[in-house]
Amino acid sequence: MRLFGGWHEDPLWAGVYGWLVEHRRVGGLAWRLGLGSDLGLLYDAVREVGRLPAGARVLDVPTGNGIAMRGITPGQGLDYVAADISPAMLDRATATARRLGVHDQVTPMVADVGDLPLDDGSVDLVATFTGLHCFPDPHRAVQEMVRVLRPGGVITGSAMFLDTGLAHEPARRVGTLAGVLGPMCTTREAVTWLAEEGCRDIDLHLSGGLGYFRAVAT
Ligand SMILES: C[S@@+](CC[C@H](N)C(=O)[O-])C[C@H]1O[C@@H](n2cnc3c(N)ncnc32)[C@H](O)[C@@H]1O
Repeated sequence: MRLFGGWHEDPLWAGVYGWLVEHRRVGGLAWRLGLGSDLGLLYDAVREVGRLPAGARVLDVPTGNGIAMRGITPGQGLDYVAADISPAMLDRATATARRLGVHDQVTPMVADVGDLPLDDGSVDLVATFTGLHCFPDPHRAVQEMVRVLRPGGVITGSAMFLDTGLAHEPARRVGTLAGVLGPMCTTREAVTWLAEEGCRDIDLHLSGGLGYFRAVAT
């Protein structure tokens, strides 16, 4: 394990990030100090997974530590695809699914968000938390994530954006130097790309250095 390096190398940061999100008090403080953001918003957003009916298909990309799985209820009967480009991160996600007792609903999948091996319109909910800023081509990622959604399906997620102010520039610089952040995009670009893919009811609101977004596919 390395302190720095890309996600394939399972950097120490990956485990630290997962631990912080799992431990709400310490994590909440770190979120507040590091990003000026409210970790509670992430917890609130993943609850949408738990409101889906049995048989609904979820794509969690990038699943990473499997944070969005916190939203799954044991016995809910979801078809939950946990996708990530890094096998090491998928091992983490699988461990999370077991710990939460929801592994019977979860299918791990090594996949590049830029070329998802899923049919058009085959997914009810795409969960993409703290992912867009890590992808090498965020525009392509948005196109792919919306492509797999059925009409009326929802994309919900969070990301660091380039236009959240100078106060968050150090976090962006450190993440880029550490090799865990991609080129990122602005909030305006993200909203434009969602609209171009035909999404409606697009909401994007900032919490410090993070933006939370949600949109409905048509
Ligand atoms: C901040 S982390 C994990 C986020 C995850 N939602 C979580 O809450 O733990 C970002 C993840 O993006 C993944 N990733 C980076 N580029 C990717 C790509 N092109 N396709 C799929 N996953 C990618 C990394 O492997 C890493 O697990």
